[in-house]
Amino acid sequence: MTGSTESEASYDRRRFNQWWAGRARAEGVARRDILRLAAAAGLASTLPVGLSASRAGAVGEGVAVGEGVTVGEGVTVGEGVTAGQGVTAGQGIVKPLPPELFTLHGTNAETRFEALADTGFTTPVSHFFVRNHTRTPRLDAAAWKLRIWGDGLTGAGRQFTLADLKSLPPVTRTAFVECAGNARSFFRTLQNQPVSGTPWNTGAIGTARWRGARLSDVLRGAGLSRRAVDVMPRGLDDELVMPDGTNYGRVRRPMPISKALDDVLLAYEMNGAPLPPDHGFPVRLLAPSWVGISSIKWLGDIEVSTTPLYSPWNTDFYRLYGDAYPPEGSAPLTRQTLKSAFELPWNATLSAHTRHRLTGRAWSASGAVTRVEVSTDGGASWRPARLHDHARRGSWTRWSIPWTPRGSGPAELLCRATDSTGRTQPQTTTHNTQGYLFDAVLRHAVTVRA
Ligand code: MTE
Repeated sequence: MTGSTESEASYDRRRFNQWWAGRARAEGVARRDILRLAAAAGLASTLPVGLSASRAGAVGEGVAVGEGVTVGEGVTVGEGVTAGQGVTAGQGIVKPLPPELFTLHGTNAETRFEALADTGFTTPVSHFFVRNHTRTPRLDAAAWKLRIWGDGLTGAGRQFTLADLKSLPPVTRTAFVECAGNARSFFRTLQNQPVSGTPWNTGAIGTARWRGARLSDVLRGAGLSRRAVDVMPRGLDDELVMPDGTNYGRVRRPMPISKALDDVLLAYEMNGAPLPPDHGFPVRLLAPSWVGISSIKWLGDIEVSTTPLYSPWNTDFYRLYGDAYPPEGSAPLTRQTLKSAFELPWNATLSAHTRHRLTGRAWSASGAVTRVEVSTDGGASWRPARLHDHARRGSWTRWSIPWTPRGSGPAELLCRATDSTGRTQPQTTTHNTQGYLFDAVLRHAVTVRA
């Protein structure tokens, strides 16, 4: 179920069929999204118009405009909240955001990729990007409890304190968290294609050493039923309210039980210290290799369900829409993709006839990075870079290569990664309107000075 796109698509179809049969819930999902899902499931033409509208309308009834944070105008969701009226860049983030380390986009802070050159394999908290739909909540660990509930449990459910979680066998895992829209800006700048959402460069990624309890241990400890199919983790940050009054509720995204029982952690430590406020204190989910939205921060509760669940975060957002996709969009995004980047400022100036050591990172959600190649002549010829880490799936490797530029003037540096599945970064990425999963080879502009 968590594997190929095809199996995700059929899973999605099954979910919709179950919803239609009244065996699934779609809380906070807009009517148009349910109709789009009907189309995705090949059912739209079979639904009497009035019936489909009333059924879909009922789904929307649960959407109340309540208390919450209204984000600014010009906002798009689905990891695309941009600074607009009423949102000051960096607003709501607790840690310092010095301009040499971060570029600010509304409620989000992007790591300057070149700043990673000064860091080791893992990304220090001081450098780690922040992606907040609203703002970082300040939570009291002593009062915090995680509630596991729903009809996918054999009993009434259970609450876990932080001490309860720490008493379970701890697991340490080094993994990246990467936003689905990382590198989105290159759809526009390299492919001349319009996309909506935060114009990230390559810095909506960080790799940390996460420590916590296995989600599978917690679910079993709460009395997991064999009939459970989905879990829906939900954050304790503010509800997301759009300027038009639409309230999407708290950030939450369902995940199939197969992924939940596979490798997901309830992390309470990041790089050997308690999670910092901006990264989910006291406990966040870590869903290795999956798009960043799956790693819900400031976890408050997890619903376990015998019926498939929907939220706006797996219907309207985090699917692929555009000419290459069916009108109703792709299946919900799961895995991240394959990328590489130079740790070099954009438009850096390099001296000619000097030996430079070009460095960068490459990562894949599907396999270990096995090769990185660099072109300094616009893609005409390629040289292998030296890999410095033993990269695993869901993690990255640092790489380097020497370069002595001969001429002077503008130049383009290219890097491309290959992973152990045999996949190499393509020349271009198929367009999708929300700019997710950009994986094409970047053309990094520099100037060579004589
Ligand atoms: N969890 C909650 N509760 N609220 C959020 O806004 N943002 C998600 C995810 N988990 C989010 C969340 C997104 S889109 C990403 S990419 C990651 O958190 C970012 O994690 P970070 O801020 O620790 O880098």
